[in-house]
Amino acid sequence: MTALTKLSQAIKDAPRWHQEDQFQNPSEIKIIPLKNEALGAEVWGLDARKAQSGETIYKLKQALAENLILIFKNQILDDAQYLAFASYFGPIFRPTADNPVLGYQAETGTPPDVVPVSNGVYQGDYTGHSELSPHADHQWTPQPSFGSLLYAIQLPQNGGQTTWYNTIKAYDALDNETKRQIDKLQLITYNPFVRAQTNKGWNSNKTEMPLYRFKDQPILGHAYAHPLVRTHPETGRKALWLNTRTEVELVNYDDQNGSQLIAQLREHILKPEFQYEHHWQAGDIVFWDNQVTLHSRKAFPSEQKRLLKRISLAGGRPY
Ligand code: OGA
Ligand code: MN
Repeated sequence: MTALTKLSQAIKDAPRWHQEDQFQNPSEIKIIPLKNEALGAEVWGLDARKAQSGETIYKLKQALAENLILIFKNQILDDAQYLAFASYFGPIFRPTADNPVLGYQAETGTPPDVVPVSNGVYQGDYTGHSELSPHADHQWTPQPSFGSLLYAIQLPQNGGQTTWYNTIKAYDALDNETKRQIDKLQLITYNPFVRAQTNKGWNSNKTEMPLYRFKDQPILGHAYAHPLVRTHPETGRKALWLNTRTEVELVNYDDQNGSQLIAQLREHILKPEFQYEHHWQAGDIVFWDNQVTLHSRKAFPSEQKRLLKRISLAGGRPY
């Protein structure tokens, strides 16, 4: 028999409902929406190592669709326990090597199921310590992940906050004329990792990254057109599906008008009323809906170590 993957082993070893001391009583869990913030709810009293009831997972899924990010407080997990918890919410995102993503390994072209996001050299130093501009994960792939979890293990004293953007609110706030103009447009988001391979030493905040592909410029990597305005699968709400910093292109659209429209929408998304800035505490797990949010990160001093672990969940083709 073949050896089990870490994920199969984790689910095999996870606690079961009949183990009373490891079963999470749903009545102990409190979900509290953040006050006066554009999105987010805190989840208290849940121990992600325990076996969860159907009622709990169903409630959490509903709360995620409603609040777009869930912040689980006070967690202590190893990778196996983290995988077992995350997989209650859907299959793990396992991209293929034809579309490189954060954490992809040189040998396989694909990332591990648990991606260390850290500035520790050779410990997942994929994102370094600098600012990360607002983005949705894996947007350049044919099936971007539906959601991701980040678990904070070690944090810097200064900086390193992560901000999430509610792109449903950003869409809703557009005037009707703009909505009509963009409702049926398709957008290609080019793969920044292919850009990085092509242009060694590139990083997302340097100017070598074009913001828009004009038709006389080469196409880097595979291009997948997705709707610019996507529909949330559970709530039916519409959201802008546009990051603010990487190379994009509207399909079948004039270069000049297209790049101007995208620049206007990007400026709009960045308005403070659509944002929530998370100040991490060790033990936080933030679980976000990647379909209708963006996220960014503030820089922090390179000599201060920051370690978070990320699990992404598979998603479908955007519509
Ligand atoms: C990510 C990411 C932000 C952060 O892991 O996808 O964007 O705060 N991380 O490290
Ligand atoms: Mn990200």
